[in-house]
Amino acid sequence: MAKKPFILGLGGTTNPESSTEQALAIALQSANEAGADTELFGSHRLMLLPHYRSDPAGLNDTGKDLVELVRRADGVLLSSPGYHGTVSGLVKNAIDYIEETSGDERVYLDGIPIGLIVTAHGWQAVGSTLAALRSIVHSLRGWPTPLGVGINALGGMFCDGVCSDDGVNEQLNLVAQQVMLRAETR
Ligand SMILES: Cc1cc2nc3c(=O)[nH]c(=O)nc-3n(C[C@H](O)[C@H](O)[C@H](O)COP(=O)(O)O)c2cc1C
Repeated sequence: MAKKPFILGLGGTTNPESSTEQALAIALQSANEAGADTELFGSHRLMLLPHYRSDPAGLNDTGKDLVELVRRADGVLLSSPGYHGTVSGLVKNAIDYIEETSGDERVYLDGIPIGLIVTAHGWQAVGSTLAALRSIVHSLRGWPTPLGVGINALGGMFCDGVCSDDGVNEQLNLVAQQVMLRAETR
């Protein structure tokens, strides 16, 4: 039997119940239902990451775990809130840890599909943050999927892991399917 693809879900905010993390969890669940092994690296662990390269002693255990998860990943679902029109510092700090893979045989996110999810409280920040994330993924040699999910979360459509907006659910499922399509052919 073919090996299951491993899809890493990375993102969130300082709040484990944020729309950003709930949206990520829904997309990751969709990838799981489509046959992937999955792991979510969210709020709790994001906050255990010191500023990248701030400790001369090297990475802490959470940082090492993140780098190993990235190395294992056949695809990534990446979710950020739009803060002041761009990727939040918390999420960008986690992305900075991917620099640890610069000397690997597979450098950064080379060749793997990356599904992007952005939440904000207005469409302007949704668009600019999605564009910023795409640029970051290109810099890391990843392949952003055709669909990037932009969510205007102002109305509060996420509660207890459920999204009440059918259109948003559809997009979260679709971005997961697009990640799976490429992850399965690697
Ligand atoms: C520091 C900060 C900056 C923010 N900047 C923007 C912004 O520029 N545009 C916008 O639409 N929303 C902005 N927001 C709202 C967040 O995008 C929103 O809280 C998030 O995307 C969705 O909610 P969540 O925290 O439940 O994930 C900001 C929030 C914070 C805390």
